[in-house]
Amino acid sequence: MHPFLPQLSFFLILHLYFLPSSSLFDGDLMLPGPTMSLEHLDPTLPPALPSQPAYCSVVVLQQDFADTVGSPPVSVNYTHPPDCPFPWTRVVLGLSLAVSGPQESRVGAVWIDGVEVLRTITPIPMAPGAFWRIDKDVTRYAALFRRLANGGGVVSMMLENSIAVLPGVFSANVSLHYYRGPLDDGQAASMPDVAHPSIRSLYHEPADVVLPVSKPDGHYGSGFWHRIDSETGVEATTVVIPRNAYRAVLEIFVSYHGDEDTWYTNPLRSEYLRQPMTAKLSASRANGAFRQVYATIDGRYAGGRVPFPVVYPSAINPFFWSPVTAIGAFDMPSYDLDLTPFLGLMLDGRPHEVGLGVRGAQPHWLVAANLHLWIDHWSDAVQAGPLEYFAPAIQMNRNAQWRNVDGESEVGAEGLERFAGWVSSSRGNLTTQVRHKTKMKSEVEVQNRGTVSQSDFIFKERTTVTVLRGNQWMARVQAVVEAPMQVQTTVQNAAGAPALQKTRFFHQLMQTVSLNEGQSGATTTRELTDRQDAEGSAMTSGGWGSGKSRSAYRYKDGSRCYARNVNTAGGVVIQDKKASCAAMAGVA
Ligand SMILES: *[C@@H]1O[C@H](CO)[C@@H](O)[C@H](O)[C@H]1NC(C)=O
Ligand SMILES: *[C@@H]1O[C@H](CO)[C@@H](O)[C@H](O)[C@H]1NC(C)=O
Ligand SMILES: *[C@@H]1O[C@H](CO)[C@@H](O)[C@H](O)[C@H]1NC(C)=O
Repeated sequence: MHPFLPQLSFFLILHLYFLPSSSLFDGDLMLPGPTMSLEHLDPTLPPALPSQPAYCSVVVLQQDFADTVGSPPVSVNYTHPPDCPFPWTRVVLGLSLAVSGPQESRVGAVWIDGVEVLRTITPIPMAPGAFWRIDKDVTRYAALFRRLANGGGVVSMMLENSIAVLPGVFSANVSLHYYRGPLDDGQAASMPDVAHPSIRSLYHEPADVVLPVSKPDGHYGSGFWHRIDSETGVEATTVVIPRNAYRAVLEIFVSYHGDEDTWYTNPLRSEYLRQPMTAKLSASRANGAFRQVYATIDGRYAGGRVPFPVVYPSAINPFFWSPVTAIGAFDMPSYDLDLTPFLGLMLDGRPHEVGLGVRGAQPHWLVAANLHLWIDHWSDAVQAGPLEYFAPAIQMNRNAQWRNVDGESEVGAEGLERFAGWVSSSRGNLTTQVRHKTKMKSEVEVQNRGTVSQSDFIFKERTTVTVLRGNQWMARVQAVVEAPMQVQTTVQNAAGAPALQKTRFFHQLMQTVSLNEGQSGATTTRELTDRQDAEGSAMTSGGWGSGKSRSAYRYKDGSRCYARNVNTAGGVVIQDKKASCAAMAGVA
């Protein structure tokens, strides 16, 4: 992370200093002056808040985070507002944050009884008074809110901050908004499960039970997160699940820190290829850009995902991300693994170990998961058994050619896994088949004695979950994710001046979810494209810099459409257009 000088006027200085030699920015540099945006924003999602007022709202937690490194999370006993009974049609978590002065980017999270409901990366404040707001649809965790409403329950938040170097103190307000009855989402309809569409589309009703797969003593010590420092590290949590669970989905949260801040641009060094395994584990950074977060049940692999590379504000160029954040930074994506095919292993009423690991990990990753369980209220115990387990090793392809700092490397990975199992409950004897295909490729090229580099990273995943009765399928959901990224960097060393790094950046998230239910065969398809382009400069030593960005967000399904284009330059929004997709089509 590059701390920058706590100067309000740095844009002005930058302007005077670099404009004469700037080719990328001729005419584009803006002097923010008094118009500089203090509000940071994430324009990628339609607002989670319906247009009508909430039926009831409660401020759960108010806290300042100054020197909190190594401290336990802040926890409060929850008090439910009177006259706010279940059922709710939606529950929204609101997190308002403000920061008093310059500060680095930090990771934060909110938990309810140890179940993580939000992980977030804070922006780098470019001026005192910077603030932002995250509204997340958390209806998925309704089981937890029911428990809170019945009395008892703890809401926790962690934000590890230090004021040793920079003075910024974060102030946070956490609120919950409960909605009852029909929702009026207005034109830009809120789509609870499309923020990060996934297999959860298959399950309209939230789970009946949500169990934390995190450190059980998280309220004390260093919090609920498990820390993964290496390729081989697997952190296990003991869970006991109800014997009448008929469906299980594991939701995994990850973030990456230290050496792994920018794992997605990581080159593969030749030395790394030649080294014996033990040395590989200790060689930092040079192991290429393949990462996969995975789960185990009692030590057995149960599925994995390539994480979407959320670009932290401190990575690449901090000046890209003011005031618009990178895709997924405010509300980090979580990854759903359907574990229903494995229920046969866990329905015996005994403790089982759910493990979490990250392939390719170096120090360090923070991982945690939530086990969502659906309960058969008509029986005390359901029966389940495995039908298929196919999880061959991922095919890796690694090449590297380096002469000193210059050279190139390529890493490719391809994998296919299939799991199936039956569950016999009051709903019948149903088979769940999970098929998951992964393909990723990373190319890194460095030239001109390390001054010119390009990194291309792309992954594509296709997950299909099919529910069958006998040989007839009842429902099928297919989720496709494709995410390319390109980073081009040139370092300019002018005599007597500090080195300046110019960067062009492109990142895109494309997701398609098709849901097909029943024999009637009606298919609903949801498509999301979220694209960001940015370019800018920064001093390699930290300090001054500038950036401009274009964000384009598109969502559509059978009946609705939402689009937004936001352009920024020099720390301010210079264009913000929201429209129906048709109206947007002509706006490039
Ligand atoms: C929260 O509740 C627990 C148990 O009722 C109690 O021991 C604890 O002191 C309470 N904490 C606060 C901050 O009120
Ligand atoms: C938190 O709420 C208080 C009012 O209760 C308000 O004064 C403060 O500005 C809020 N802080 C943030 C970061 O929204
Ligand atoms: C459920 O169906 C599977 C085959 O699909 C079968 O192997 C299993 O015995 C059945 N279970 C029960 C309880 O009928």
